[in-house]
Formats: sequence, structure tokens, C-alpha cells
Amino acid sequence: MADPAPQFGAVLPSLVGRPPGSRSRALAERLRSVESRNVTYLSEDFPVFWEEAKGANVRDVDGNVYVDFTAAFGVSFAGHGHPRIERALVEQSERLIHGMGDVHPPALKLELLERLSALAPWEETRTVLGSSGSEAIEAALKTAELSTGRPGIVAFEGGYHGLTLGSLAVTARPDFREPFRARVHRGVAFAPFPRTEVESEVALAEVQRLLSGGIPGGGAESQKAVGAVVIEPVQGRAGVRIPPPGFLAGLAELTRADGSLLIFDEIFTGLGRTGVIFEYEREGVLPDLVCLGKALGGGLPLSACLGSREVMDAWPESGGEALHTSTFLGHPLACATALAFLAVLEGEKLVARSLHLGERIVGRLREGLAPLAGVREVRGRGLLIGIELASEAGGPAAGLGARVAEAALRRGLLVLPAGGQGEVVELAPPAVTSDEQVDFGIGCLVEAIGEALNG
Ligand SMILES: Cc1ncc(COP(=O)(O)O)c(C=O)c1O
Repeated sequence: MADPAPQFGAVLPSLVGRPPGSRSRALAERLRSVESRNVTYLSEDFPVFWEEAKGANVRDVDGNVYVDFTAAFGVSFAGHGHPRIERALVEQSERLIHGMGDVHPPALKLELLERLSALAPWEETRTVLGSSGSEAIEAALKTAELSTGRPGIVAFEGGYHGLTLGSLAVTARPDFREPFRARVHRGVAFAPFPRTEVESEVALAEVQRLLSGGIPGGGAESQKAVGAVVIEPVQGRAGVRIPPPGFLAGLAELTRADGSLLIFDEIFTGLGRTGVIFEYEREGVLPDLVCLGKALGGGLPLSACLGSREVMDAWPESGGEALHTSTFLGHPLACATALAFLAVLEGEKLVARSLHLGERIVGRLREGLAPLAGVREVRGRGLLIGIELASEAGGPAAGLGARVAEAALRRGLLVLPAGGQGEVVELAPPAVTSDEQVDFGIGCLVEAIGEALNG
């Protein structure tokens, strides 16, 4: 018998017209008159409004079907609308939609915390839940300050940790920081994020200098001492930048010797995206704190800051008022979908699939893009992949990532730009993307990049 035809979720794109279609454009016009103009980028060629998504497919309001190589900011790692996650959400919504996270907690919060403890590297783990990645970062930075009594922070050039005022202080992008310069915590210094072994030595020397000397301009002496070093083990939004082997281990050695805490922001990389559960595992590094978000909630907003009991016990025991909490902490719907996601991750061996698919995509893209002079590098870890584009003069091809995203959209593929100057095309497909969809995506990217480079 012939294989059944693939269903929505595992199909190739079908476009009923050139996207964005008339309905997406009409919605964009309405959006323009109600949403703050800073939020959604609106142009002739962007965006399309989503109506439905399943697996690695998205359907827009005009009926165009796309293959999604973004997993919606890396969130839908198990695919959009995974049946087991959907079922967990529906069943939970019929029992308890909202609870009292830090007062009369939903029982599911406990179940999720136990599951996270089982994944974590420490003998005894303690966790603070949140809703967004930024919140998990804020919890980690507060923990480090409580634990060490030292408010200074070392972060890294290119690093992205969120945009709330606390997390913005460690996000490196000047365009995000500049308008709020007076409000962000000043005791933060940015060390270079290395890409080569030589750069690694320079970066470690700079971290060592900051750990011993404190943060320049960080205020009074007592305000300058460094209590935390925060890093994405692979920088996502900066353009999928991967440090050389040994760097993270070197960093861990420096922080351990200094008594400052090493925070791994695994909000993008964690839970399988890079072909391992946690990226820090690769080098056998033991972090002090780990932040998770994005994929964790299986599509619902959920984040977590995990640490060893010794570190996290810097927080006082609650006497009825938590020093750090929020209304939606331990939200039952998000706990239910997170537990379902973690079960799917294990049951469907998505981590191994991520590694395998990622290698195939990177290998095939390197081959397909080799003739194009404007492609500087294709790099990746698992299903977090970046294609870096160069200008004719050899510098970063500023803004070209967005042009590739538009050219890809017109062919039925969703991708995002990344990099400090938008010079990278970022791929973060769901781990359930089929081989056929992957092959389509690769062919489409070769064409779209060729078009953007020649246009
Ligand atoms: C590595 C990393 N950290 C933190 C964040 C912030 O997460 P959120 O946007 O959920 O606040 C992001 C978001 O892209 C991220 O990629």
C-alpha cells in the first residue's frame, strides 16, 4: 500500500498568491492604528498573519501554507500543536485554568519542579518559575547578588538576555540599551565573546581582569565587585555565534576561583535545540544557575531559573511575602504543557533528531551555498543554525538577513534575520520537521539567498 499523503503539519508549502496576501495586508493596516508602532514591523512585504499551525507548517489568513524554520522564536521545538501537548492543555483547562502560584499552589507546579530537578545537574536543585525568559534572567541576577553580596556583572558582547530593565542591563545591543541608558544597572561590563582559540584567551584574560579589578564606572568600590558572569553558551540572536572548545570550561574555572556565579542563559539553547539537553553538558561544565524559557512551556509562556540548593538558599524562607514572585507564577496551563513537552522530548527522542537534522541541514547548505561569494559561513549546533552573509567589501551584509527572510517567505519558507547588523539568517526549525520539508527548506534558502545577494 502506498504511504498515506502527508497531512497539514508535514506538508510542503502551497501558496495561493504572493504573500502577504490581501487579508494580511488589511490586518496590517488595522494593526497600525491600534498597536504601538514600535512593536510589529509593517511593510509591503511583511508580515503575514498566522491563523493555524501544526508540526512544521503554518497557515496564514490568506490560506498560504508555509514550512516554518523558526519554530516561532525557537519555542515550538516539538512542533506546533503537538497532539499530546494540545491534549494536556485542553484537559487542564477543564480542571483549573489559574491558581495561586505562591500561596495555594496548583499541584502541577510541584510536578513540574520535580521534573526540572531530575533534569538539572546538581544533587539538590531549587527553582524559581517565571513567565518570560527575561524574568528568569532577572531571578538569576537577583540570586547572584543575594548569594555573593556583589552587584557587579560580567556579560558578553553580542549577548541577548531580554529587554525588561533588569535583563536589558546584560543585553549588549547598543540600540536596545541607549534610549534607557539612565535606567539600566551600571555595574555591568561586557567582555568579548570569542569565536577562535586566540580570541578565547583574550576574552578569558578580560574576564579575569574584571573579576579582579571590578566593573569600571560601576559606582562606589562596594558596587563594583563582580557577583555574576552571565552568558549564552551559543549566542542566538547575535547570529548563532559558537565559542571555541574550552572557553566555557575556562570561564567556569575563573568564576569558581573568584567566588562569583556562572549563569548559563539556556533560554534559546536549552532542552534539545542544540542537540543536547543543555549546551553546557558538552564541556562538562557545572554552572551555578541555569535559565530556561522558550521551548520549556511547550508553547505557553513559562520560564525557570534553576540552581543548586546551596546557591538558591541565599533567598530567605518565605514568611508570607515572597521577595520575588508574580501573579502567574506556576500557571497550571503552562505547567501542564511543559510536562507534556518534556514527555514528548524524551518519548520521541527529539534531542537526537535535532542533532541529526542539524548536521544534515548544515552539510547540505554548505554544499549548496558554496558557489555564492557573499556567504561567509554556515554554522550550527543541532537545530540552531546561522548563515552569515558578507557585503562585497567583505564586511557584514547589514540588513541582508531580512531580505532573505522576505525572499524565503515568497517561496513558502519562514526564517528570521539575526546578528548585530541583521547579517545572518537564523534557522531554528521544529525537531519534527520531516526530511522532505528539510530538503525543501534547503533548496529554498539557496534560491532566496542567491536572490537577495544579487538583488
Ligand atoms: C538567549 C535568550 N535569553 C533571553 C531571552 C528573553 O526571553 P523573553 O523574550 O521570553 O523575555 C531570549 C529571547 O529571545 C533569548 O534568546
